[in-house]
Amino acid sequence: MSLLTSLLDSARSGDGYEISDASDDELIAKSTEKSERWAARQMLEESVAVEYKAYKDGDERKILDLFKATFGVDLPLPFWRWRQLDNPAGGPWTETVWDGESLAGHYAVAATKMSINGEAVPTCLSMTTMVHSNYRGQGIFEKSAESIYSRLSDAGFKLVYGFPNVNSHRPFIQKLAWDDICDTPTFTLDVASGKPVTAPSFVEEVVEFDARFDALWNRVKGTKTIWTWRDSEMLTWRFLKNPVNKYRIAVATDNSEIRGYIIVKQYLSSDLDIVDIVADDKNALPPLIAWAAQVARDISLSKVNIWASIGADHRESIARAGFQAKAPVTHFGGRALLPIDVDFSDPRLWHYSMSDSDLY
Ligand SMILES: CC(C)(COP(=O)(O)OP(=O)(O)OC[C@H]1O[C@@H](n2cnc3c(N)ncnc32)[C@H](O)[C@@H]1OP(=O)(O)O)[C@@H](O)C(=O)NCCC(=O)NCCS
Repeated sequence: MSLLTSLLDSARSGDGYEISDASDDELIAKSTEKSERWAARQMLEESVAVEYKAYKDGDERKILDLFKATFGVDLPLPFWRWRQLDNPAGGPWTETVWDGESLAGHYAVAATKMSINGEAVPTCLSMTTMVHSNYRGQGIFEKSAESIYSRLSDAGFKLVYGFPNVNSHRPFIQKLAWDDICDTPTFTLDVASGKPVTAPSFVEEVVEFDARFDALWNRVKGTKTIWTWRDSEMLTWRFLKNPVNKYRIAVATDNSEIRGYIIVKQYLSSDLDIVDIVADDKNALPPLIAWAAQVARDISLSKVNIWASIGADHRESIARAGFQAKAPVTHFGGRALLPIDVDFSDPRLWHYSMSDSDLY
């Protein structure tokens, strides 16, 4: 069998070689480069024997130190505790990689209750992956992910999904077999130069998620194929117990019920992010969006931002209000951990919002 034939066979069997129009010489060079890289990686792996372990009490000190060394900013301990220990969906789910007493790598996910056709399904949001700079290029990223994914599937989690950054997007697809679901732009309204809007009086600001939110969730949860659970317990944890970010909430009222709600958060000194919007009556969406624009103008912010998945009910309302697709563009992807009844890689089936990402 010629080298070319064996490379093409490898490509079909999906082990990482790409089918190309390259000549045999080029393919030989490519293969040699790959084997050298592989041999170097094997040598490094043999030279550093690291251990993969589930998080245990007290590891957080070293996790926060690695976060600071990796990203150059502090991850506040109360925020870590809130995300990992106080999550009503369970946890913590964190893989740690040790070289003796040194933390060489880390991969954390957050358990999420997902509504799939209205039924609760355990899934998880992929969060921070980091490998200490002294240990990169040794396969720690891949192995720590496979280790935690196997623990998660044993525990019944069906899907891992997330919003990888520019450093991890390609590695997630190529090394962890994630599917790209879509890339989502940020829809932005320029309130500084736009016409002032006033929200109608039936839109009211509220400070808690009461039983009306549960009634709304029970009415709407089966109307979307895949979206994260939004009952009052989850909303209270996500938005009111968050120790770092402050959110404002408004509802469109209708006698004793609410027809919809919107949640916003200021970003820097210029932007207001609509991190979530849900309604069971499309007519409630424009007034809720007008409330956000009014809030932005009242506190002298120049822009309002929102995400809108392909099937989102608010796409029409934001287009009419003058929002335009802009940067930043966020990658969205995932991988099934167990058989799952829907094609999660179809972006039309999702209803996601900024609040589904741990950045907002
Ligand atoms: C992302 C990260 C965890 C990967 O760890 P690692 O040990 O370098 O991972 P691996 O060596 O197993 O694999 C990385 C692969 O992705 C490639 N890669 C790395 N950065 C990339 C980028 N920006 N674009 C495309 N590919 C990239 C590498 O070339 C390597 O591929 P190769 O083995 O074919 O050469 C590590 O680089 C890191 O900690 N980065 C900083 C923190 C971060 O941004 N984390 C992601 C978001 S939470």
